[in-house]
Amino acid sequence: MSDLNRREFVASAAALAAAAKVGQDSPPIRVGVIGCGGRGSGALENCLASSENVEIYALADMFKDRADGARAHLAGLKKGDMPHPGNKVTDERVFTGFDAYKRVLDTGVDMVILATPPGFRPIHFEAAIEAGKHVFTEKPVAVDPVGVRRFIAAGKKAAEKKLAVVAGTQRRHEGSYLATVKHIHDGAIGKITSGRAYWNGSGVWVHPRRPNWTDMEYQLRNWYYFTWLCGDHIVEQHIHNLDVMNWVLKAVPLRAVATGGRQSRTEAQYGHIWDHFTVDFTYPDDVHVLSMCRHWPGPGNVSEAVVGTRGRSNCANQITGEVNWTYREKHRNPYEQEHTDLISSIRRNEPLNEAEAVAHSTLTAIMGREAAYSGQEITWDQMMKSDLSLLPEDLSMDAALPEPPVAVPGKYKFK
Ligand SMILES: NC(=O)c1ccc[n+]([C@@H]2O[C@H](COP(=O)([O-])OP(=O)(O)OC[C@H]3O[C@@H](n4cnc5c(N)ncnc54)[C@H](O)[C@@H]3O)[C@@H](O)[C@H]2O)c1
Repeated sequence: MSDLNRREFVASAAALAAAAKVGQDSPPIRVGVIGCGGRGSGALENCLASSENVEIYALADMFKDRADGARAHLAGLKKGDMPHPGNKVTDERVFTGFDAYKRVLDTGVDMVILATPPGFRPIHFEAAIEAGKHVFTEKPVAVDPVGVRRFIAAGKKAAEKKLAVVAGTQRRHEGSYLATVKHIHDGAIGKITSGRAYWNGSGVWVHPRRPNWTDMEYQLRNWYYFTWLCGDHIVEQHIHNLDVMNWVLKAVPLRAVATGGRQSRTEAQYGHIWDHFTVDFTYPDDVHVLSMCRHWPGPGNVSEAVVGTRGRSNCANQITGEVNWTYREKHRNPYEQEHTDLISSIRRNEPLNEAEAVAHSTLTAIMGREAAYSGQEITWDQMMKSDLSLLPEDLSMDAALPEPPVAVPGKYKFK
């Protein structure tokens, strides 16, 4: 074991031991879950596993079947051989519909997990901070510039109120990424001259329309395929890789030019999102980052890399060049670690606040989308001033909600 690796081993073993102890003697933290689908159910499990004395106290989802699903998942969790004692959800604390998030905030929870589609995130985050709750927010945190600014403003309020905000950009809580990025920041590859970020995958679920579904229910159940809910896959998924670029470069991109389209997934059931994007982001000092994401059948590649004047790194666990180093230690599941970090920061009264970082990474991805949809070069300043808001005025289950057309560069205008 090299000295560098030995030091990291001792530090990570100490961190694991400390994490196990945090909360043993602390009062319970009551948690409400807003958005009880796949991630909401996963996050409540991660949260329970992350720290002692955590209680899942209330649930909110748009639909009863999804809330019931998360409740059944919670009931199946165990601590040792026994049902998990952190399951404190009762019939009276399960809420459904557009206002369910408000009901959860009224139950006396200390913290909420926000895991709905991202179109609702700015509204839910603002309400949670207004109500004085700590927040774990899934990424992305908005789908348009107006939502990003609303989120940033609420994040500043959270800091004033000493509320903790941790985001589901979990690479920032993953031991191997943390060690690698630290070495890069300490100069292991010299000055960074370029980077690349990929989320090349094969797509997600689709739920065929049922005759009794209104437009709203159809779009909510298939939120991935509607930009007002999802942001398109460049925002929903590729944000993870773009977040790594912003983190490693300690900057946001100044401008973007992009291309893309909808080529392999053209059927109506896939709504109006695209299936591939390629973006050239220019960061300060003329550092270019090539970003690529797609939902196509075939082999995938989800990764990041940067090149510097003295070496290169995959940002995740390896550095080559003048320094040759590989991360070899065990680290905790980052989906649990992010909750440990959040809850221990609450208990120490030193609240973490990741609101601005995740909002900037969200806006980076939206900038790539808008540059591709419009065919225009778009600057960060334009994004920060843009009035683009995708939120429908009528948020009710029988709202008329025609499907927007697929964006066509030249016709689609960024404003
Ligand atoms: N960090 C990660 O690696 C990761 C992984 C998966 C998903 N996510 C994020 O988690 C979020 C949820 O994704 P998912 O995969 O769980 O989707 P999902 O469809 O499984 O769950 C979303 C749930 O939110 C509910 N919902 C929709 N609108 C709502 C509203 N206004 N109020 C209350 N509930 C509402 C839906 O009914 C559904 O049950 C997304 O932002 C996604 O990007 C993050």
